[in-house]
Amino acid sequence: MLVVDDDPAILELIAAQLQPEFEVTATADPLRASDLTRSRAYDLHLYDLTMDELPGIELLLLTLARSAEAAVVLMTGEPSVERAVEALRAGATDLLLKPLRFDALSASLWRALHKARVRGPQNGVRVAAVHDALTRAVEAKDPTTSGHGERVRHLCRIVGEAIGCSQAELAILDGAAALHDIGKIGVPDAVLSKPARLTPEEFELIKRHPEVGARILEPVPGLDAVRRCVVEHHERWDGRGYPYGRRGEEISLPGRVLILAEVFDALAHARSYKEAWPKGEIAAFFRSGRGSHFDPHLADTFVDLVDRDFDRLVEPAALRSR
Ligand SMILES: [Fe+2]
Repeated sequence: MLVVDDDPAILELIAAQLQPEFEVTATADPLRASDLTRSRAYDLHLYDLTMDELPGIELLLLTLARSAEAAVVLMTGEPSVERAVEALRAGATDLLLKPLRFDALSASLWRALHKARVRGPQNGVRVAAVHDALTRAVEAKDPTTSGHGERVRHLCRIVGEAIGCSQAELAILDGAAALHDIGKIGVPDAVLSKPARLTPEEFELIKRHPEVGARILEPVPGLDAVRRCVVEHHERWDGRGYPYGRRGEEISLPGRVLILAEVFDALAHARSYKEAWPKGEIAAFFRSGRGSHFDPHLADTFVDLVDRDFDRLVEPAALRSR
């Protein structure tokens, strides 16, 4: 996302607040911001309304002229009905009041993103089809994981809904679940489907797939949040995962859901090197992994789901007849 506020102190505060969840480009110079919107497409824009060099409304109009589907949120310290009407008429997705309530900021931004996506449904349909195609590409490369991508998508939706994710977060989760293993295309076949224990060198090759995946997806506009989850899907809550050893909430929320869903599916199904685990052992694994491997809050919700609804998690009904 692109954040523009000509007050550098406020800009820094906002950027620091949003950085863990969004890929933020921040500038105090609205003219530079205008140049930036010319050279790349951002998913989301947050502009201050009152800026001397170029008022937020002008920047909004320039942005929408370049990309009609852009989500642009304005913020102002001097609210009035007239200004709110003017902003919304000009095409702002939302108008936030300053001082910003940081606890509610990310929720408003996700809402804005969702609103803008609903405005552009054609785009959504095309993206879903590309996701399907890429999921199949990974499974063609590694047939031992056949069905894994689709099952993880269903799992992510079930868990995402159970923890109250917004539609925008669910959409990110769906993309991330579909694409998380795309980087396996870069791992040699002999390593990927080896029916025995991997050597440390082979495991190092496997460990590159999250970053390779993010690189593969780099040219696709609008996938920043999805790419972030792809990179994160083998991280752990305690920072002992790979590739970066991110810990706790440094890992995005959709990323944390994906980590959990990915592990569940791997345990609940047979692979070339192991049998499927029974329900009791899987529940115990998630219980003992709360706060170490998994986000503790998510793990608690998930163990409840495993207890209540194990069969649906193992093989979603929609996939059973295939
Ligand atoms: Fe993976």
